[in-house]
Amino acid sequence: MAVPIVIDCDPGHDDALAIMLAAGDPGIDLLAVTTVAGNQTLEKTTFNALRVCTVAGITGVPVAAGCAQPLVEPLEVAEDVHGVSGIDGPRFPVPTVAAVPEHAVELLRRVLIGHPEPVTLVPTAPLTNIALLLTRYPEVAGRIKEIVLMGGSTERGNRTPAAEFNIHVDPEAADIVFRSGVPVTMCGLNVTHQALATPGVLARFEALDSELGWICVELLRYFAGTYRRLFGFSAPPVHDPVAVARVIDPRIVDCVDAHVAVELHGRHTRGATVVDLHGRLGLPANARVAVGLRTDLFWDRMVAAVAALGAARD
Ligand code: BDR
Ligand code: CA
Repeated sequence: MAVPIVIDCDPGHDDALAIMLAAGDPGIDLLAVTTVAGNQTLEKTTFNALRVCTVAGITGVPVAAGCAQPLVEPLEVAEDVHGVSGIDGPRFPVPTVAAVPEHAVELLRRVLIGHPEPVTLVPTAPLTNIALLLTRYPEVAGRIKEIVLMGGSTERGNRTPAAEFNIHVDPEAADIVFRSGVPVTMCGLNVTHQALATPGVLARFEALDSELGWICVELLRYFAGTYRRLFGFSAPPVHDPVAVARVIDPRIVDCVDAHVAVELHGRHTRGATVVDLHGRLGLPANARVAVGLRTDLFWDRMVAAVAALGAARD
């Protein structure tokens, strides 16, 4: 049975691939895509989600725009990582799908209440929409099967030395999510930095020789340039699809139970995820924390999803 999910995202090169994985893999039933400000402004991330859905032939999946600002601090975008548009690199056709005229939080509530089974939320962006959902409509928490998010790290950060981007942009929202009591799985940088789009991976997308395959190649080439320039990586880490892959097949992403706290006040560490891997604090675990990635299985599913979407279109 396909797992019903909603992706809450801020496309974003890797968010684009996460949407494709969710839409193209038979293990997922993608019920909706919601957007939030993060990698770029809300206007741009929403437009990008529509561009990705169009090029991937994803129709009939509602796309709704959510929060334009984090809960407390002003928005910090990641133009240095994702470019002016948020998905610089490929030339996208003009979107032929439109966003629904409903706030993301309202759409999330409606989907959660209306679906016959509990739904998995997959946030791949700052957690503003999800935190707002849980505070405005606490009664829907029981309708959420789990929240499988890309964010944080068991180690260091990427936006600051201590903090990963998604958590750093809205730490208060992340704090609400980790303390919500809803089952949370955290796929952080310590695993997503293993999902490297090496030249071998690019060759697999090239070999598909579909319009969508080439879009992926161009997305990944741009992302490769970013990661070489900013971080000295030899290949770019494709963060966001790792969370989707965990939902598709838990064997792809190995997890351990741990207590995760979000640093809200540190002078140098605001937005850091403090992961108590060895139980030193004696606190009950509030998350499953990703610690290992089966990169072979991960790329097999990612490439197969793009192949399936591309074949349906071409
Ligand atoms: C996360 O930040 C964003 O730039 C990416 O899309 C990903 O969600 C990685 O830190
Ligand atoms: Ca993202």
